[in-house]
Amino acid sequence: MSRKKRRRDRQQKKVEKRKKKAQTSSRSSRRQAVVDVSTPSVGDKGGADLENARGASKLPSKPTKKTRGPVILKVRNLRTDFHTPNGVVHAVQGMSFDLHKGEILGIVGESGSGKSVTNLSLMGLIRKPGVVTADTLEFDGQFLQNLPDAQMRKIRGKRIAMIFQDPMTSLNPFLTVGDQIAESLELHENMSTEQAIKKATSLLEDVGIPDPAGRVHQYPHEFSGGMRQRVMIAMALACDPEILIADEPTTALDVTIQAQILELLKRLRDQRGMAVILITHDLGVVAGSCDRVIVMYAGRIAEQNETRPIFKNPGHPYTAALLKSIPRIDSSGKGELHPIEGMPPDLSKTLVGCPFEPRCEHREASCKTTIPQLQAHGSTGLKACDVAWNKKG
Ligand SMILES: Nc1ncnc2c1ncn2[C@@H]1O[C@H](COP(=O)(O)OP(=O)(O)OP(=O)(O)O)[C@@H](O)[C@H]1O
Ligand code: SF4
Ligand SMILES: [Mg+2]
Repeated sequence: MSRKKRRRDRQQKKVEKRKKKAQTSSRSSRRQAVVDVSTPSVGDKGGADLENARGASKLPSKPTKKTRGPVILKVRNLRTDFHTPNGVVHAVQGMSFDLHKGEILGIVGESGSGKSVTNLSLMGLIRKPGVVTADTLEFDGQFLQNLPDAQMRKIRGKRIAMIFQDPMTSLNPFLTVGDQIAESLELHENMSTEQAIKKATSLLEDVGIPDPAGRVHQYPHEFSGGMRQRVMIAMALACDPEILIADEPTTALDVTIQAQILELLKRLRDQRGMAVILITHDLGVVAGSCDRVIVMYAGRIAEQNETRPIFKNPGHPYTAALLKSIPRIDSSGKGELHPIEGMPPDLSKTLVGCPFEPRCEHREASCKTTIPQLQAHGSTGLKACDVAWNKKG
């Protein structure tokens, strides 16, 4: 056997060993899911079936300048239930939306509204007792429903990457950041360790880590919170994903670092043309970064639209209430803030009316008994409300 072939075999064995290790390591198993996306749901569609939304045919079928490219991810009637000893928690109740190439789509909503579960479901990362169903989960022409886990693993991390909500629990404290970034490069791109560490160093440079050649050999605890957040971004970007899902990437960071991270995401979107789903509860972050916005309430879409009309002309009372609860520099009022009274509904109870009804200033008798379906709002939006502002015109 030639020396070259022996070296190639050694390299191959090393990659296989690393693949096995990655599959069995606690970090990987923590992220692996027991998912059933096979069974289309029946009954209530959560008002979120885009094609069937009243007036949705009026929405532009071609991407607007805000939505940039063609659809890369199509989600229809996504549902996630957790079968707990205390009953079934309906965490996501019929989400339908499109993500376009090169756009930043914000997902906002109160804590517990289902932002993270929606995206973990897309990634195939919901574990038992969670059960995911969907009519369509289509990524770049490929249906993700029923995809064997081995194939899903090839997409996850490589073509669709996620920055998890808590960087400290997502980074392994026992491995250097370089090794952690290199892991997916060796796994998905068949790079040698040397090549992968070189690429990891350049990724750290891309995300603005000073002295990347030295830092690549350091451990997560040697990095500040903002730097760890950047390391997570570098890890997610390692394989040049087409979609980046960033779950609260700037929470707990000071405003300067927050602005730097958001600028970085925008720059990378512009340079690489990737689509970004940006999950946040911060409307300021949405205003500064997103092309379009989905407002979630109780596991459903309350409203979706381009960013400007969401702020200028909200169609759903929940969106309007959220806007009134944050300080705005363009406010013509006295600058008073109005917290939203009451609590979101218990997701284990069967819904009979509008989920926002107990807290809504505009509610009418019918809101208690009718679950509002998505309908067109303006020329670009959808809202799940039959009552508020409809009478005007
Ligand atoms: N493993 C689980 N078992 C039972 N319920 C769960 C599980 N994971 C999530 N949930 C429930 O699903 C709902 C949605 O949770 P999710 O984490 O998506 O909220 P979120 O919008 O991301 O909130 P936050 O802004 O706090 O991150 C919550 O009611 C949560 O309690
Ligand atoms: S349907 Fe009724 S309760 Fe629900 S948001 Fe609209 S007005 Fe409020
Ligand atoms: Mg979350």
